[in-house]
Amino acid sequence: MPGRALPFAAASSLPALVLSLLATASATPQTDADRVVAAWVARLPASVRQLPPLLDLPSAQHPFVFHHLRKAGGTTIRRALYDVSRQLQLSAHIPCHTVACTVYSPPPRDSSPRFAILGGHYHRPTLQRWLGEDGSGASRRAGCLVMLRSTVDRVRSCWNFRYVQEPMSFGLQPLAPRLHAVDPRALNASLPTLRSVHGEGCNNEALRVLSSVGADEEAVGRLTAGEEWSPLAVGALDEALGQLSQCAVVLLDRCGATMRVIRHWMPWLAAYYDCSTQRVQVGTTARAALSADAERIIRTHNALDERVYAFAVRKLDAQLRLINGTLPPAAKRAVSSLPLDERAEHRPRQGVRVAASGLRRPSASVAGSHARAGFRFR
Ligand SMILES: *[C@@H]1O[C@H](CO)[C@@H](O)[C@H](O)[C@H]1NC(C)=O
Ligand SMILES: *[C@@H]1O[C@H](CO)[C@@H](O)[C@H](O)[C@H]1NC(C)=O
Repeated sequence: MPGRALPFAAASSLPALVLSLLATASATPQTDADRVVAAWVARLPASVRQLPPLLDLPSAQHPFVFHHLRKAGGTTIRRALYDVSRQLQLSAHIPCHTVACTVYSPPPRDSSPRFAILGGHYHRPTLQRWLGEDGSGASRRAGCLVMLRSTVDRVRSCWNFRYVQEPMSFGLQPLAPRLHAVDPRALNASLPTLRSVHGEGCNNEALRVLSSVGADEEAVGRLTAGEEWSPLAVGALDEALGQLSQCAVVLLDRCGATMRVIRHWMPWLAAYYDCSTQRVQVGTTARAALSADAERIIRTHNALDERVYAFAVRKLDAQLRLINGTLPPAAKRAVSSLPLDERAEHRPRQGVRVAASGLRRPSASVAGSHARAGFRFR
């Protein structure tokens, strides 16, 4: 392989040759990736303590972003966020509710108001530039939430929905057979190349949303698909875990833990969202067991997403430890230093509508500036 020969040809002396051999022997992209995960896991207690408790309602100055990973239970959260925005009169950018479903990025800043709540398939690095463009040069720290789902279930759901069910619902031919009926060689070849009617594949959704590589559909689909990993793979993983570290994390398959996290960090959402009533969109396609080969191929192509998911499980547990009060005292001080009325709101009772409680609404001046910008609250 010509790519392989290059470092050896360039090594003009024996020590250089030995060094380059040692370098290639000691670090594979897989071990580098595991090291990246370990480094972010080590920072988890600190990053969980630093999560901004979003006890106040979101506002244009302190917006809230839900990053909807496709086929991970986000549709129900988006509906709940829309309900919040209507009930509490907060400006919202929620594709499928306040703008077209096909909108994946916030509108150009100069033609639009700020939004208090954003929820969609946003590419986070792009969205962060949008959030940072506030004219003062200061980047505001938005609260954010990400929900993840285990890899094989997510890919199966993506495949059966995007390639089979959705085209049929548009009166088109399915783009592929149902996943359990695809032969492993064909699956291996088509996972990086097949695209939904919206132009996305099913590999590496967490990297698609949370890393810069995600803006390049061709690259994100192939990060770990070939004989060798893409040179972008480890850096993209590092970036995605860094982004995830800034957000509250919940998991589709851990409803009880998910609700505890939402009640703790986003009490205003907890009154509108209940994952125990959430019906996962299993779709109309039959659910049949996948072969071990098919599962292995999915995990190979999504080796980075697998690591992001494993990290998310660790993060969810760290968040629960903070809520349970089993993180070191520094973690508790953040809560006890809150004003009393906010502490009272910290664990809203089930069934209490936030609108009826004392949570703060956006100030009149914010509402006024939206009105001046011609924006209607929904
Ligand atoms: C999948 O395809 C890649 C390259 O396209 C190849 O290197 C790999 O061996 C294939 N894996 C399987 C299980 O067929
Ligand atoms: C937190 O407490 C709940 C019960 O209150 C328990 O089920 C859970 O395992 C605890 N989690 C951690 C990470 O301490």
